[in-house]
Amino acid sequence: MVMSHHSTRRGSGNLPPSTGYLSSTEERSGAPGEAIAPQDRAAAPLDALDTVGAGELSEPLRATLDLYERAIAASSCGIVIASMQHRDRPLIYCNRAFEAMTGYGRDEVLGRNCRFLQGPETDPQEIERIRRAVKAEQPCEVVLLNYRKDGTPFWNNLAISPVHDAQGTLTHYIGIQTDITQQRRADKQNEQQLRGEQFLSGVVERIRQSLDLDAVLETAVAEVRSLLTTDRVLVYRFNDDWSGTVVAESIAAGWTPSLNARIEDTCLQTTRGSNYVRGKAQVIDDIDAIGLDPCHHQLLSQFEVRANLVVPILQGDSLWGLLICHQCRSTRRWSYGEVCWIQRLADQLAIAVQQAELYEQAQAEIAHRRAIEAQLQASKTQIEAQARCLQEALQDLQWHQSRLVQSEKLSGLGKLVAGIAHEINNPVSFIYGNLRYVRSYANDLLNLLDGPPNAPGGEDLDNGSNDSDDLDDVDLDFIRQDLPKILTSMESGAERIRNIVTSLRTFARLDEAAVKEIDLHASLDSTLMVLQARWNEAGIGSAIELVRDYGALPPLVCCPGQLNQVFVSLIDNAFEALQTALGDATWASRHDRGRITIQTALDATGTEPLAIIRITDNGLGISPALRPKIFDPFFTTKAVGQGTGLGLSMSYQIVTEQHGGRLTYEPAIPSGAVFTVAVPLKGCADHQGS
Ligand SMILES: Cc1cc2nc3c(=O)[nH]c(=O)nc-3n(C[C@H](O)[C@H](O)[C@H](O)COP(=O)(O)O)c2cc1C
Repeated sequence: MVMSHHSTRRGSGNLPPSTGYLSSTEERSGAPGEAIAPQDRAAAPLDALDTVGAGELSEPLRATLDLYERAIAASSCGIVIASMQHRDRPLIYCNRAFEAMTGYGRDEVLGRNCRFLQGPETDPQEIERIRRAVKAEQPCEVVLLNYRKDGTPFWNNLAISPVHDAQGTLTHYIGIQTDITQQRRADKQNEQQLRGEQFLSGVVERIRQSLDLDAVLETAVAEVRSLLTTDRVLVYRFNDDWSGTVVAESIAAGWTPSLNARIEDTCLQTTRGSNYVRGKAQVIDDIDAIGLDPCHHQLLSQFEVRANLVVPILQGDSLWGLLICHQCRSTRRWSYGEVCWIQRLADQLAIAVQQAELYEQAQAEIAHRRAIEAQLQASKTQIEAQARCLQEALQDLQWHQSRLVQSEKLSGLGKLVAGIAHEINNPVSFIYGNLRYVRSYANDLLNLLDGPPNAPGGEDLDNGSNDSDDLDDVDLDFIRQDLPKILTSMESGAERIRNIVTSLRTFARLDEAAVKEIDLHASLDSTLMVLQARWNEAGIGSAIELVRDYGALPPLVCCPGQLNQVFVSLIDNAFEALQTALGDATWASRHDRGRITIQTALDATGTEPLAIIRITDNGLGISPALRPKIFDPFFTTKAVGQGTGLGLSMSYQIVTEQHGGRLTYEPAIPSGAVFTVAVPLKGCADHQGS
């Protein structure tokens, strides 16, 4: 390729065509620092540089120089030579690579200082380095942003070196330019890639550390914008109806903010929506260049968007939101790498969203549980307060119950005492009534023994009269007959009283010790005697037949006082039931008299032998409706004020809890009630502690 068609050759003309250009000014020996007139800027072959006359060059040397010139001209790097002998250090040589690199032709370059390549973004510090190097006649290497003739920038790796003549005087500088724009771009991309990776790992780290979604999103948009040096980055969160809100935004100064803007992008669902749901990104380098839907274009224009990069943030199959990058100041060619890592970031944000939502759920759950705990605590406190109230009420009740039991006992005792009084009263009245006859008979007999009247020491036994007539009146035969009879009946009266007293003592002794071995039949008898006295006192004793049907029973270890209370209660209930029945016409028409049967038996069929005491009356019985309640405390069928309703419940407690036995009711056939007490023979011994 011949490139020296502009050059004017000087010298022998034997040289091969030159491939470089030299300013014609250099041919003259102008003083250093002297400006070069434009008309002087003509290209000359490199050999013209030689100040030595052409004729003085040997042929080998000329050939070598020619080689050098062609080699420099053929270099793929730009090579220029600046003259240091002119004030403005103009270029006197440039090769073709320089022309190609800068877009300037040789004619436009030679005779000018190289600063014409500089522009607004050229780093002044690098220029200063050149200046200092040149001043110190030193080499230097800089990287400059230069501008081609058409105005496009390129990165120029410039290395300049001083060139001295044989005397060591600086005459020229050679400069070698390499266009490193591609490399710089690749470096920048790598750097961006690296920053992107670092940013991503930083975000991932923060996502792992933070559960505050707002903070994560804010950091993400700020860092994406800084990394992409773009104008707006935002996170848009969808509502259920495809509308949505900008929940995080980072924006460069001067552009319209969109944070918290609620956007009704009605065409989104029908246009890009399905792509986003499938996880696809949308990359628009120039919104005016791709024929966007008018609705979409209008939306973007509203926010001054020129180029747009959108990646979906998915939660499983559903679209949670979008990560959006806007370039507003210009169109933008989004690189593949940028799109890739923005997508990766969106995936991480999706994890952050999920994590934050789970955390929120967990927090809500915890709050819910705490509320329940607080409620439980409140109800526990309330229950405790209620329990205390109940405890107090129970104590109150127990106190009243014990009062009632006492009054029940006292009333029972009162009735018993009345009965006993009545029972004792009969023989006592009888004895008392007969005493005056015995006294009279005794007087008569003593008078007879004393002989005639007025005998000293005589005592008037009959109203102080001791006439002899009275002695005649003494019916000795009658006295002989009647006195033994009277004494016999008095004796039987006394006997009766003695029996009553013995029974009373047996009855009373039942209370002596808590646990005792007793003869159950003797106990029952004493109880029956005492009760019978009461019935007699009530005047209906004769209307009620008492049948004892005792079986063979070994001694029973029990709490006799307690157990006796059960028998008193059950037998007395039977008596009262019969009292009621006696007043019932229908019952009376079917029964000639009331009957209370006391049966005892030994039940040795179970694991431990039981004493069975069955108390049956043939009264009216208990109606089926009332049966389930009969052992409830305070349950009574008696009129108000007539019974405490504690008899049966106390009996039940004594039999079951104190003696480990059973107290059951069943209707008697054909009428009446059967109460059965079954207690282990060693009932109270085993159960007194429980
Ligand atoms: C041999 C040589 C080559 C040069 N090449 C370039 C170049 O390619 N681009 C550039 O911007 N500056 C280049 N310069 C630097 C400028 O010519 C100039 O020295 C610099 O701008 C500082 O000087 P000033 O303060 O006069 O502008 C070169 C300088 C020399 C000596």
